[in-house]
Amino acid sequence: MNPLYSSDIQAWIRGNEHHLNKKEEDELMLKYFPQFQSKNRYGHIGEFLFELYLQSRNISYSKKPNYEGLEPDFETDNYFYEIKTRRYNMSGTAGEKIPAVPFKYRNLSIIKPIIIVLIAYQEVEMSILFKPDERASEFIDFFKSKGFEYQAFSSLITSLVSNESSQSLTDNMSAQIDSRFDFKPFLKWIGGKSRLLPYLDVEISKIESSKYIEPFLGGGASLLNALKYNFDEYIACDINRELIDLWITVRDNVEDLILELSLYEHMNTKDDYLAVRRDFNDKIRAGNDIRDEVDIISISAMFIYLNHTCFRGLYRVNKRNEFNVPYGNYKNYSIDYDNLRTVSRAIQNVKFECHDYRETIELYANEDSLIYLDPPYYETGKAYASDDFDSNEFKKTLDSLACNFIASNSIDFVELLDELFRCQRNADFGANASIANIGASETKLYQVSEINVKESMHRSNPGEERIEILITKK
Ligand SMILES: C[S@@+](CC[C@H](N)C(=O)[O-])C[C@H]1O[C@@H](n2cnc3c(N)ncnc32)[C@H](O)[C@@H]1O
Repeated sequence: MNPLYSSDIQAWIRGNEHHLNKKEEDELMLKYFPQFQSKNRYGHIGEFLFELYLQSRNISYSKKPNYEGLEPDFETDNYFYEIKTRRYNMSGTAGEKIPAVPFKYRNLSIIKPIIIVLIAYQEVEMSILFKPDERASEFIDFFKSKGFEYQAFSSLITSLVSNESSQSLTDNMSAQIDSRFDFKPFLKWIGGKSRLLPYLDVEISKIESSKYIEPFLGGGASLLNALKYNFDEYIACDINRELIDLWITVRDNVEDLILELSLYEHMNTKDDYLAVRRDFNDKIRAGNDIRDEVDIISISAMFIYLNHTCFRGLYRVNKRNEFNVPYGNYKNYSIDYDNLRTVSRAIQNVKFECHDYRETIELYANEDSLIYLDPPYYETGKAYASDDFDSNEFKKTLDSLACNFIASNSIDFVELLDELFRCQRNADFGANASIANIGASETKLYQVSEINVKESMHRSNPGEERIEILITKK
């Protein structure tokens, strides 16, 4: 299989596999690139991936052309390419050399522009260095005027998945500066959307709307990804009161939250965990109405602590609304405070509210909205999906939506859709996913993309695949 279409490799390229330790990262690479075993294999892997990219686009190229001793990695009709790859578990400061690449190739750029392609951690690191401040923009503009552009490999992959013609590299440059890699989700979330993001990107970029609405916010991987599209308005809601309070706290009181979180830094035994869980439930039991800001900050800190130390980041409550997930028994527990600060800055214009999804739609959706709906997944064999979420009701809501929407669900949901939209599958969507056009009731047409998603390496059965779907309006 072409590794470019593997969701594991895409996640690695995009930085969603940050959490892999050295051994896991090596295992992932050995699984997909057994031909590269040498110590500096990451450089070879990057070049190999880029070559696959060129081939998949039918772009003709030569490798390592020699221009008076200078050998950029690839040459095409229009560009030279220099590929810079870094793994996530590295030591040393090699990344600092990247901004000096233009100096090395200063004379070559007179022949044609040079694209410096950044892969995996190299992209993450550069997006931090290239935060859009005034000085950074000056340097980037200067490099550009001299024929050098930095290119995030993940955005090339996105355009590859979309099967559309190549995006302009200059446009990609600004996407890269705005990079989603400036931050990552700060919660672990079951059903988190990291692995679907490239496919969501394809759909979102097709739609013109000024308002982005997410009625099932959860851990927010999809919201954080959608921020780069600069919608005029962002509305993010969830039925979980404590979760919404947490997002509001991250937005409005991040320093107080970090101070509170520092209290939990060395608490990683089962007893510590159970004590915090008890405290959390006591505070919640005290009721929503009497919570003041101090309570909310302390509940939010406990929420993050419990999320990182409980079993698989689950959020589950019993009938009395008590959080009852067991201790996760993880060796390390740490929170990235700088990431929290960056997320806080990025969500300043997002409105967070606690509502049932139907309320959110009623309150905010209009014809100019794009709604991304990511409900608890429907599973065959259960009357309704997890807990008491009513998938039939959700299906009816989809059919009544008058605006653009994207919805994700498990493949089982197609069964429910069948009644509503008569299905007819007809096209392929890359090697790893297939797309099906679903003819709908008389007036509406929907499209359902099936996407194979590999389970995370940390699950008990690594590599297991499941199929998820994205439903959009045609
Ligand atoms: C699959 S998760 C969303 C994951 C999210 N897209 C992400 O990337 O992390 C589903 C979310 O829906 C919320 N939820 C469940 N029932 C709901 C309802 N009736 N109305 C609104 N939100 C609901 C849950 O609290 C949960 O956070």
